[in-house]
Amino acid sequence: MELEKTLRERCEAHGQGHVFRFWGGLNAEERGRLLAQLEQVEFPLMARLAREWILETPPPARFDRIEPVPVLPAAVHRGEGAPEAWDAGEETLRAGKVGLFLVAGGQGTRLGFPGPKGCYPIGPLTGKTLFQYHAEKILNLRRRFGCALPWYIMVSAANEAATRAYFAENGHFGLGAENVVFLRQRMVPCMDGAGRFMLEAPGSLSMNPNGHGGCIPAMVENGVLDDARARGVEMLSYFQVDNWAVKVADPYFIGWHALKGAEMSSKVHRKNTAREAVGVHCLCDGVYQVIEYSELDIYPQLLETDAAGNVRYFAGNPAMHILSVEFVQGVFNRFDRFPWHLARKKIPFVNDAGELVKPDSPNGCKFETFVFDALQFVGHAPVAVEIGRLGEYTPTKQFEGDNSVVAARRSMSEWWGGWFDAAGAPVPRDADGRVSVPLEVSPLFALTRDEFVEKAAGRAWDLSRGLSVDADGTATAPPA
Ligand code: UTP
Repeated sequence: MELEKTLRERCEAHGQGHVFRFWGGLNAEERGRLLAQLEQVEFPLMARLAREWILETPPPARFDRIEPVPVLPAAVHRGEGAPEAWDAGEETLRAGKVGLFLVAGGQGTRLGFPGPKGCYPIGPLTGKTLFQYHAEKILNLRRRFGCALPWYIMVSAANEAATRAYFAENGHFGLGAENVVFLRQRMVPCMDGAGRFMLEAPGSLSMNPNGHGGCIPAMVENGVLDDARARGVEMLSYFQVDNWAVKVADPYFIGWHALKGAEMSSKVHRKNTAREAVGVHCLCDGVYQVIEYSELDIYPQLLETDAAGNVRYFAGNPAMHILSVEFVQGVFNRFDRFPWHLARKKIPFVNDAGELVKPDSPNGCKFETFVFDALQFVGHAPVAVEIGRLGEYTPTKQFEGDNSVVAARRSMSEWWGGWFDAAGAPVPRDADGRVSVPLEVSPLFALTRDEFVEKAAGRAWDLSRGLSVDADGTATAPPA
């Protein structure tokens, strides 16, 4: 009773008393759920977001001076300092100073898969999931560098139970349950066009995870930083669940971060076109930022190309970072200054008659934080390292089209096709030179082309129908 009274008063004081309008008809479980949701709401924060973003129109950020960020060359170019970066990265890994941080708390709405996105069977032949690909890479790196590589996985209320169950059913892929640490991010209430909380059911608020930037408070509040410190981990290699190709702990990248004494480092990829829908790493009035693609028209210089047609501000954001443990703590201490972003979405809601309405057009607001905004807090030495996309960045946002399951599977064939070429195997290709069969190689068998060639050269490979190579090198072709 006391909790109900307190929360009712808090809601009334913030103009959200309507969330109790079905209270009389709720059973004990529904009441308990609503109160539990309301208990975690940060009312002053939500009031500020409603005022700044919904009730008033925020002025767009304006920067007087925008410059491209300095970018270190991709590993393949073997530029100045590359050997030292490799050595430093390998030494940092061997010393056990690296942990892995995976964000997997998103709702995966565009893919529409019924389950956590990491459980999506991305392997065209094996049906291997995104989580399993990540896990096999980690096992290979552990073998190679003799380190524990603790894996922190951020989940949300939307998928925590299913994700934990999936890892338990699969024996944590042999990583050891103590080395796979789940942490839950916070949720925030969705709001309508008047800044009022929305209900998804008479006894339940509509809520969304607080964005991948929610990893900053989640790491502190769930004891991840303390756990990392206790293990001697000094930096976290951050990646997203939907990219099968990600190098989960890339020695070259780690090495640059270590050599430069960086707080936060980022990989960047060359934009395909000036208007490509990715954020761009820039220096804005001297401050490191990622400018979102929705703001390209506010800063037309971001669309400039040189005489050869190359985009001048080319540093697209593939969402791969290294965050130093003490830097995360510092950002958390100033999290009240961390930016929030608004997305207008179609949000099903309960009307005054208690009926669920599914809108045809955006009717509500979701607020999220983005991890790249932590770059604004970097005090010195931001590091950006270029990558090629093939074999490193093919995110899975939807089934078909750009950044899709279909494109990811095609990239697998191209990537591993190059490995088979190097091993001297005949790779079937179409008239345009594209690999025409599905290919998969277990990261437990080989994580790099060199490793593959060492193990695979001289063997007779029949790729005519496609092929998957498992951990011990057994090759299986799909049925004719
Ligand atoms: P996206 O922004 O692509 O979102 O997340 P999503 O949930 O995968 O898909 P849509 O937009 O609903 O279709 C990029 C990465 O950030 C994680 C996701 O799990 C994914 O790895 N993420 C996103 C979180 O961990 N928490 C969030 O609140 C949002």
